[in-house]
Amino acid sequence: MSDRPRLLPLLGTTRHGSRDAMTCLYRCGNACDHPVPNTSDNTYFGDLVEGEVTRRGVVRAGAVGALVLGFGGAAAGALAGAAPAAAAPATPVVPEVADPTAPQRGVGNGALTFKPIPPNQLDTLVVPNGYDHSVVIRWGDPVLPGAPRFDLHGQTAAAQAKQFGYNNDFVGVLPLDRRGRRALLVVNHEYTNEDLMFPGFTGLDNLTVEQLRTAMAAHGMSVVELERVDGTGQWRPVGQGRRPYNRRVTALATKFELTGPAAGSAWLRTAADPKGRTVVGTLNNCAGGVTPWGTVLSGEENFNQYFVGADAAPAELKPKFDRYGITTAARYPSGSRKWERADERFDLAKHPNEAHRFGWIVEIDPFDPESRPRKHTALGRFKHEGANVIVARDKRVVAYMGDDERFDYLYKFVSDKKFMPGDSWVARKNNLTLLESGTLYVAQFAQTSAAEIDGSGKLPADGAFNGTGRWIRLVSGNRSYVDGMTAADVLTFTRLAGDKVGATKMDRPEDVEPSLLTGKVYVALTNNTDRGKAGKPAADEINPRNLNKHGQILELVEDRGDNTAESFTWSLPIVAGDPADPSTYFAGYDKTKVSPISCPDNVAFDATGNLWISTDGNALGSNDGLFATAVEGPERGHLKQFLTVPLGAETCGPFITGDNRSVFVAVQHPGEITGASVEKPASTWPDGDYAKPGVVVTWRLDGGPIGS
Ligand code: FEO
Ligand code: CA
Ligand code: CA
Repeated sequence: MSDRPRLLPLLGTTRHGSRDAMTCLYRCGNACDHPVPNTSDNTYFGDLVEGEVTRRGVVRAGAVGALVLGFGGAAAGALAGAAPAAAAPATPVVPEVADPTAPQRGVGNGALTFKPIPPNQLDTLVVPNGYDHSVVIRWGDPVLPGAPRFDLHGQTAAAQAKQFGYNNDFVGVLPLDRRGRRALLVVNHEYTNEDLMFPGFTGLDNLTVEQLRTAMAAHGMSVVELERVDGTGQWRPVGQGRRPYNRRVTALATKFELTGPAAGSAWLRTAADPKGRTVVGTLNNCAGGVTPWGTVLSGEENFNQYFVGADAAPAELKPKFDRYGITTAARYPSGSRKWERADERFDLAKHPNEAHRFGWIVEIDPFDPESRPRKHTALGRFKHEGANVIVARDKRVVAYMGDDERFDYLYKFVSDKKFMPGDSWVARKNNLTLLESGTLYVAQFAQTSAAEIDGSGKLPADGAFNGTGRWIRLVSGNRSYVDGMTAADVLTFTRLAGDKVGATKMDRPEDVEPSLLTGKVYVALTNNTDRGKAGKPAADEINPRNLNKHGQILELVEDRGDNTAESFTWSLPIVAGDPADPSTYFAGYDKTKVSPISCPDNVAFDATGNLWISTDGNALGSNDGLFATAVEGPERGHLKQFLTVPLGAETCGPFITGDNRSVFVAVQHPGEITGASVEKPASTWPDGDYAKPGVVVTWRLDGGPIGS
């Protein structure tokens, strides 16, 4: 632990629940200062109160596709002794298709036996006894071979475009060989904090154009080849040699292809791209997912903050900009990044359609470093947290997605085409097109105990926050189901389509991920301190607390265990907070044995199906962290804290490797506390000097599986 003094948050700088004002500024452009973008009047619960729902047993999805989490485990055991695959570009090692119902060797029995760590405010990364951790890679470390050494005082866009970007969020680890020795780390770089990046920072208006371009280059994604350290659960970047897969994707220069029904539409055409098919850059890449065909999805989230000038945009676009949080009342909304000083396309007065080219799900093929990443319009446009895919019983693929804004919606996409297993050229070609055409749905929830919901979080008499729900079709290919909107309209302004069809207003849907073992879907609803305020929607059974500071976890079970179904049942296994707080709920588990948790954000599964939850903005006074719980059986709800991140940081990722031996997390925005700077850091993690975001791996010292 650092012995440097901790910079205490300045009085009045913690805003919007528990988040520091500096995070509000840089992360989402002070989104909470702006009006809630969803002003639609689509309340419907009165019509939809339904009878009690019986809780379903475990649904075993018949075919869940490749367990891409996958090196090690059953597949690797069977292949031990095979020659390592050659690490040549465009030769992906698509993991074996594992049968999730078969006993898996080497991953443990699923019991979460680690001793939970206590809440704390230490400026270090804390893991349970018996575990160790190391920093895999940090901001400024080389990614491309030949990248210059990081120079804090001489940062350039050209150097940053070869180095690991800022504020790592999503983490995916994809096997490069079948023996679990090499892997590709794929990471999102969501946003930059110029206060903490540039020595002598005095304000965004005073940055040089080169500094603005450096920040653009620090956004995007990184692909980094890793090697296992001495047969342990530790991983490190391969430090020399060709490293053909290593890649930086940036907001500055990387070209993306738009696919799907809205590609080429009038909404997406600009002076620089009159065909509306090619976008430069990706913005605010938050969470994501690894697909069963070995690519990575990444969500473009708070893209609104990068644009100015909507006050002078065409009148017909203004309601659309407002719905996406792009303020039309002023040239410079609060929290503007001022990037238009470096590139005028961020000025909507000049290029009003440029904003429509962000807010998509991005797909990148890390096994083909020359490939052009794509933005898939078929998955709709909103503040995409991320997307996670499961192969349905009929082999179509289903992507689950959240729109992270107060009172916004939950979505899913069902592909037209079917997944082909294996790593043949034909399978790969087929699978790379799966997200280009399909049906987009938005979720509408019904309640069983509406009359009992008073906003306090009191559990209804039937013993559960639960109900049924349905997926409302928005668009299939070029066919729109929404009155007055074309398919391109629905896909480009998906929030407006959701408003029209009466989607359910949620408490900020963050990560949404199906369990590949059960097909059940888990949603992190992080918080919503506006719930129940005057003029705002009040609590309902699915968002059961007014002024919701701590969030909840939603479990969604598709009817017949079919992920393509158009109806489902749901329940809340976790209503987060201090277990001593009567408004919390942990699936009925003894609350004296449960770790306090606040603001669930990212979710992941280990190889035995335990749910791992990371947090952002802990409103209980502790640093953010990572937690795990069983979701089936008697241990369901027995939530335990596995790690905490340093001061001012949030916990992102997380990713548990398929052999259950390594837990990766991204430590995002360490030291992001108002008043901090490079010279006066609020955190000195990880190197004892100034704060640097970085990716960490945790492993068990005795080499055993995580948890058990
Ligand atoms: Fe970037 Fe919704 O968190
Ligand atoms: Ca109920
Ligand atoms: Ca998130």
